[in-house]
Amino acid sequence: MRIDIITVLPELLKSPFEASILKRAIDNHLVEIHFHNLRDYTSDKYKSVDDYQFGGGAGMVMLIEPIDKCISKLREQRTYDEIIYMTPDGVTLNQQIANQISLCENIIILCGHYKGVDQRVRDMFVTKEISIGDYVLSGGELAAAVLCDAVIRLIPGVLGDETSALTDSFQDNLLAPPIYTRPREYKGYKVPEILFSGNFPEIEKWRDEQSYQRTKERRPDLLSDEH
Ligand code: ADE
Repeated sequence: MRIDIITVLPELLKSPFEASILKRAIDNHLVEIHFHNLRDYTSDKYKSVDDYQFGGGAGMVMLIEPIDKCISKLREQRTYDEIIYMTPDGVTLNQQIANQISLCENIIILCGHYKGVDQRVRDMFVTKEISIGDYVLSGGELAAAVLCDAVIRLIPGVLGDETSALTDSFQDNLLAPPIYTRPREYKGYKVPEILFSGNFPEIEKWRDEQSYQRTKERRPDLLSDEH
């Protein structure tokens, strides 16, 4: 998979890809990440990427021209399955959306800044608008990093244990069950006996019950028909 990220702040985005699972995925050529600084696509001496809103109002708007130039250049080189714009008014990211995107070959992620992009960018280029939650960040970069992490870990071969992404919370609309490791008892807090039984069908059953109980208590909305 190839991900092209268009941003005015590439430095804000680099570190999540320089450690742990994402770094390994890049090193193993399972994913390629390319950053594009919008200022490299400007045509005036100030390298402007934004301007005042038509009609008045506080906040700057990202110009269409540098974004068009950047996207057009990328599209000359390959076709893209999705051009994703990170914005608080997009659809809220969930596991299903991450699963869908993980099947793409090439995607572009556009990070919004200031008040956001000129609406015509959305009309002309964007195929998906994604929010990571009902709160407003200073820009789309951190949201793009979240999306990339959620997607990249689903690419086959990225996680050491092939099955572990499938047992994540949300993959089956249930939260994950409690997990334990050594020691068996810590300051009076004990690991449930069933986990030492060696009876794997019973352990699986216990985990399923715990998942269901946890989901019922914390996220009953996941158990409704809409999911
Ligand atoms: N940009 C600013 N806030 C955002 C959010 N919540 N999700 C995605 N992009 C954003």
